[in-house]
Amino acid sequence: MAETKPKPWILNAFAMFSPGHLAPGLWKHPRDQAGDFANLDYWINLAKILEEGKFHGLFLADHLGIYDVYKGPANREPALLSGAQFPIGDPFLLISAMASVTKSLGFGVTASTTYELSPYALARKFSTLDHLTRGRIGWNIVTSFLDSAAKAYGLDEQIPHDERYARADEYLELTYKLWEGTWQDGAVKKDPETKVYSNPSQVRGIEHNGKYFKSTAANQLPPSKQRTPLLFQAGASSAGKKFAANHSEVMFLPGLEPEKTRIIVDDMRKQLIEVGRKPDSIKFVAGMLVVVDETDEKAQAKYEEYLSYADFEGTATLFGGWTGADLSKFEDDEDFAFTSVAGIQSLIQSWSKTIPNSNGLKWTKRRILQELSLGGVHPRAVGSPSTVADILQRWVDVADVDGFNFSYTVSPGTFEDMIKYLWPELRKRGVIWDDYEVPGGATRENYFMDGKGPRVREDHPAKKFVWK
Ligand SMILES: Cc1cc2nc3c(=O)[nH]c(=O)nc-3n(C[C@H](O)[C@H](O)[C@H](O)COP(=O)(O)O)c2cc1C
Repeated sequence: MAETKPKPWILNAFAMFSPGHLAPGLWKHPRDQAGDFANLDYWINLAKILEEGKFHGLFLADHLGIYDVYKGPANREPALLSGAQFPIGDPFLLISAMASVTKSLGFGVTASTTYELSPYALARKFSTLDHLTRGRIGWNIVTSFLDSAAKAYGLDEQIPHDERYARADEYLELTYKLWEGTWQDGAVKKDPETKVYSNPSQVRGIEHNGKYFKSTAANQLPPSKQRTPLLFQAGASSAGKKFAANHSEVMFLPGLEPEKTRIIVDDMRKQLIEVGRKPDSIKFVAGMLVVVDETDEKAQAKYEEYLSYADFEGTATLFGGWTGADLSKFEDDEDFAFTSVAGIQSLIQSWSKTIPNSNGLKWTKRRILQELSLGGVHPRAVGSPSTVADILQRWVDVADVDGFNFSYTVSPGTFEDMIKYLWPELRKRGVIWDDYEVPGGATRENYFMDGKGPRVREDHPAKKFVWK
């Protein structure tokens, strides 16, 4: 019997349309070009590099406000000074230009079901990009978390967390109806002889009358290669994970230790079965920052050098937005090991296990910020190609993930280093591909690598709305 080929790891590049993403202050580094984020040439060049390096996709995180908790309340100054995820542009508008210089690279765009107020309009946007990219668009579904975004969109406060997910659930249902249920394949005739552009009997409206949304419409565009974009999600709460089990096709996992992440993966596989999906119908991708060079010593020196550019004020600014905790309210020498500040204790517990010689030293504010300053709450792999490959392999083996969402310190330098130093080692080990599974194919085909084409899989809930 022929041996089944192990699936290559999923390789995502993780970025943001702003001067920096998860390494505030690195825009000052001479090797960084992301600081010039509003220059389209930077993005075009990045897309070319990633495709040449056979990354599956470029994933663009996004938010709709400003991180203003630190030294707050409602203080914009730390974000403005440090460039911590601010200023920030609309990631949708980058995609066409990058698609025009690539053939296989996928693009994941973050869009919020809380603030993209019309599912009908968002369905149209994604259909447009799925046409223009020939099936290479993905949607990172978020429900958003910043008070500043709620205020910017005219709300006095955020919609409560679990209700945001309930809205998101209905939002998705309406977009599925539009993408899967309003046009039949082949409805566009464009036939000069019969003088028919689209055949009216193959296009129909849907009526949606739900708790949060109402729409009577047909999608404004005919079916694109994927119809429904590849669906990414990163929920961590129980409502978030339930939402993922129902909708997600690629799930981003937080977590510093593979053992803890494994618990989430196992739980998700169980939940998938409960909702009638196959346990392997979600691809799991772990966040990771790689600093790699020829030797462990060179990589460590490179890491230290990057660290010297890190902006701890900017890091505290991001931390404030993620957790709601304002670190300026604490003393510099306070030991946070047993603090009740949201999220910190579990981070410290993980760091204590994963950072060599970390036990015994006091967990001061500065130390916490240093650990968060390059790569945020995701793990780091620093070392020679074989050291980094061993770390990643351990994640795949222990956490049972399918690949990685790689953030950067400097861009495109971090990705170039990975391609130059790490990819040859990973190819030698047979864990990454030489070329896309389907060169020029749809993003869903290249992430799933299952030969089942560009459309949502049979057990996905969007399939319920297909008009046959
Ligand atoms: C790798 C990763 C990427 C994320 N990207 C974004 C993003 O771009 N925009 C956003 O608003 N939230 C983003 N989030 C946050 C999640 O959408 C989610 O709110 C968070 O994981 C907490 O889960 P919960 O909403 O279920 O509590 C991301 C989370 C992770 C782990």
